Amino acid sequence: MCGVIGYTGDGRRDAAAILLRGLHRLEYRGYDSAGIAVHADGGIVTRKLAGRVPDLQELLALQPLHGVSGIAHTRWATHGAPTSRNAHPHMDCDERIAVVHNGIIENADTLRRALEGCGHTFRTDTDTETLAHLIEDSPGETVEARVIAALEHVVGTYGLAVMSADEPGKIVAARQGSPLLLGIGDGEYFVASDASAIIEYTRSVVHLDDGDIAVLTPQGYHIFDRESHVQLRPVDDVTWDLESIELGGYSHFMQKEIFEQADTVRSTLRGRLVFEEGVARLNGLNLTPEDCDGIDRITIVACGTSWHSGLVGRQIIESLAQIPVAVEYASEYRYRRPLAARNTLTIAISQSGETADTLQAMRAARAAGSRVVGIVNVVGSTIARESDGGIYLHAGPEIGVASTKAFTSQIVTLALLGVYLGHQRGLLPLAARQEFLCRLAQLPTLVARVLALEPDVRRLAEEFVHARNALYLGRGVNFPVALEGALKLKEISYIHAEGYPAAEMKHGPIALIDEEMPVVFLAPHDEVYTKVVSNMQEVRARGGRIIAITTEGNGDLGTLVEHQLRVPATAPLLSPVLTVIPLQLLAYHIAVLRGCDVDRPRNLAKSVTVE
Ligand code: F6R
Repeated sequence: MCGVIGYTGDGRRDAAAILLRGLHRLEYRGYDSAGIAVHADGGIVTRKLAGRVPDLQELLALQPLHGVSGIAHTRWATHGAPTSRNAHPHMDCDERIAVVHNGIIENADTLRRALEGCGHTFRTDTDTETLAHLIEDSPGETVEARVIAALEHVVGTYGLAVMSADEPGKIVAARQGSPLLLGIGDGEYFVASDASAIIEYTRSVVHLDDGDIAVLTPQGYHIFDRESHVQLRPVDDVTWDLESIELGGYSHFMQKEIFEQADTVRSTLRGRLVFEEGVARLNGLNLTPEDCDGIDRITIVACGTSWHSGLVGRQIIESLAQIPVAVEYASEYRYRRPLAARNTLTIAISQSGETADTLQAMRAARAAGSRVVGIVNVVGSTIARESDGGIYLHAGPEIGVASTKAFTSQIVTLALLGVYLGHQRGLLPLAARQEFLCRLAQLPTLVARVLALEPDVRRLAEEFVHARNALYLGRGVNFPVALEGALKLKEISYIHAEGYPAAEMKHGPIALIDEEMPVVFLAPHDEVYTKVVSNMQEVRARGGRIIAITTEGNGDLGTLVEHQLRVPATAPLLSPVLTVIPLQLLAYHIAVLRGCDVDRPRNLAKSVTVE
């Protein structure tokens, strides 16, 4: 949410060009407006506008900027409409300080009134502008000293980059609650919201912690805390390639990521299946056999798609490890005074590892005495670093705002965790564990087979492109898939869609069904299949148009349904990894046919770092 980048170098490269490229890569974090500022001509020169990064690029072609250091921003509006005036960078009264910011300054109104009372003139409606004026007013010999003094008055979250016209070549960064990392180059240094912005230039990154202030100059970088104590932070290597954040021939990142799933599922499994012993190797969990034995219950905290994978995970873990699992919306959990106790294991699921609600829920669980494990995709992210242990998805960067490959890898990870706990607690016989591991190992091949359904899904999309509503129904482990299918459709095509447990339909939503209503049923051959077929009959009797996702070889649905998409058979608990893929493709194609901007859906942004 909001992309921040800053750059300083020894003059071999033009800062404006680097910042602009970084903004292109960060645009998935927010795309309401964009802006850039560089040290030039003894001052700070900015260009900014409402719109996308390509619009900023056009502006820069007409009004070029050059410099050796600068900061830039792509915005997801919180305070103030997405106008050119409200675009970052924001400046103080004399235009000597420039600030870009991700996060929310909670006491911005109070600060603004006080600053206006002291004679400051504001130009925007944003919370961020208060920071520029506060720094202007703050004492200190250096810009970092003034930033520290200003932050004393601030309540809220920030990932900040600041520059002062008085200290050309210097960028000051500060982090509290919003992700920020440094990039270490050769004679050049970067600060960015995430590594995608800088991977072209360096793979060496330093993740900042909350409370860190970093100073970057062409000569090097220093990190210290608010009391000016030096902080030593490890330098990490980014392990993925530039290729993984480029389209590589696909039209959209969402499409690319859907098609990557055979590989990403394989990558999640790699090195983790130990067939002879029938166990999953999950070294990062940091749970001893005694810890596993002592778990009385599990609470999963997550948001959105990750919450849906948590619902699938509940059934997998309850079934394989016989531990009761509660799945909580992270945003609700943290305000309910969690009753987590020593014997509760809390699992935070998050693709980005930065979702503010999930992070806060995890902290609340820890404060209540629970051990916390993270299931996270982004290596080195805040949730990963703050967990007691964890499992990485290893699905590679997910750039599409609509999450796809993370969902399937999360389910696979939860399945690995289920076998692991089932084994540790001595509940699953060896043969059953081995059988389950074999089913897991087959998934990449089966995913590739489901992806081959794309032409059929595309034809379906053409038929349903003008739908105004859609209902997704499933039972058991496929009920969360219904929720996920509906979420995918609504977020990128803006068609109203609801997911429901199939049997719950008759308690209300059945009233919506008529000849216009597409109803997508998740109906793989499993123990609830015949019940799902009864629910289909109820829909058919009311004229609803049924699309069924069922199992290959299934010949029973006949004329009951209008369309069938058949996925390969697998272990029932793993079927969501396959049944969700046609729904991802359906949402994608409907959105494309409706002319929607699939990778930049209205009002959304990747990585929700505000609460
Ligand atoms: C939907 C989607 C969101 C995220 C949610 C949590 O397609 O992407 O619902 O799943 O914002 O994000 P993470 O997993 O990064 O915590």
